[in-house]
Amino acid sequence: MTAIKFGTEVLRNEKITDDICRLTLLAPAIAEKARPGQFVMVKASDDFGLPLLRRPFSIHQATTDGQLQILFKSIGRGTAFLAKRQPGDILSLVGPLGKGFTLPSQPTNICIVGGGMGTAPLFYLAKKLLRSNTEHKAIKVFLGAATASEIKVLQNDFAGLGGLTVLVATDDGSTGHHGLVTELLTDNLDQAGNWQVYSCGPHPMMKAVASYCFARNWSCQVSLETLMACGISACLGCAIRGSGQGVDSNKPYLHVCKDGPVFAAGDVAWE
Ligand SMILES: Cc1cc2nc3c(=O)[nH]c(=O)nc-3n(C[C@H](O)[C@H](O)[C@H](O)COP(=O)(O)OP(=O)(O)OC[C@H]3O[C@@H](n4cnc5c(N)ncnc54)[C@H](O)[C@@H]3O)c2cc1C
Ligand code: FES
Repeated sequence: MTAIKFGTEVLRNEKITDDICRLTLLAPAIAEKARPGQFVMVKASDDFGLPLLRRPFSIHQATTDGQLQILFKSIGRGTAFLAKRQPGDILSLVGPLGKGFTLPSQPTNICIVGGGMGTAPLFYLAKKLLRSNTEHKAIKVFLGAATASEIKVLQNDFAGLGGLTVLVATDDGSTGHHGLVTELLTDNLDQAGNWQVYSCGPHPMMKAVASYCFARNWSCQVSLETLMACGISACLGCAIRGSGQGVDSNKPYLHVCKDGPVFAAGDVAWE
């Protein structure tokens, strides 16, 4: 798929918490081609031209009227710059990039597990699943966050889609289950059933989700994050070790920007 480099206008900048923002951009050419799990590279350089390199962000939502959203936490220079954007500002984006989630063509049980900012691409996935022609048997969404304020807006957004169940876990117990999001799976999924699992979040969380699925022979797709310099398969900086199985079995290393960011969990060497 051809990626497009585009000057996009900021339409809204919502503050979800002090350091989490959701930017809505007018990017019709990218929104039209986007699929859940794909990402964009955003130029986030300040007046000093820093950081030099574009920053990768999952597509949080893309609408038919040309709007594209990214949801991010401010953790450094680039994201601090983006957090200060105002309506009318222009940002340069490249996208949509990478391979997204594969949606099931047959009705099945769907389980979505997100942690922290990993929840960003899963909202778009849930929306697409609900609007596809396939009516799934059940869609259960498990969201993990540090504290209630980080997850409240997204929890409501997921619930607002209708047709799915949302359960949350927080590190401090301020809402939902007090503990790890993965702890919710055992009690809330029919263990005898067959689930298609989708996950994005911190590496240890996805590793635990993958291992849970391997033990039950459930299909699992994970969206991975690495540091990325180019996002377009030119620098080879986003390499991870592959398991030597699955579609890319001939490659010892996989490149997250091109072969992913979404992988079948069995294709990844979980180290
Ligand atoms: C495919 C992909 C999709 C992503 N989607 C999102 C998203 O939807 N929302 C979101 O908030 N973030 C997302 N990220 C992470 C995001 O790209 C980084 O937060 C951003 O690049 C940080 O830029 P910065 O200049 O603010 O921070 P920097 O100054 O570059 O880094 C600040 C600190 O954070 C660390 N850091 C930077 N990036 C990462 C990373 N990917 N993983 C772990 N540590 C990191 C650095 O090592 C450094 O210590 C995604 C990353 C990838 C690869
Ligand atoms: S980020 Fe450059 S090759 Fe993947």
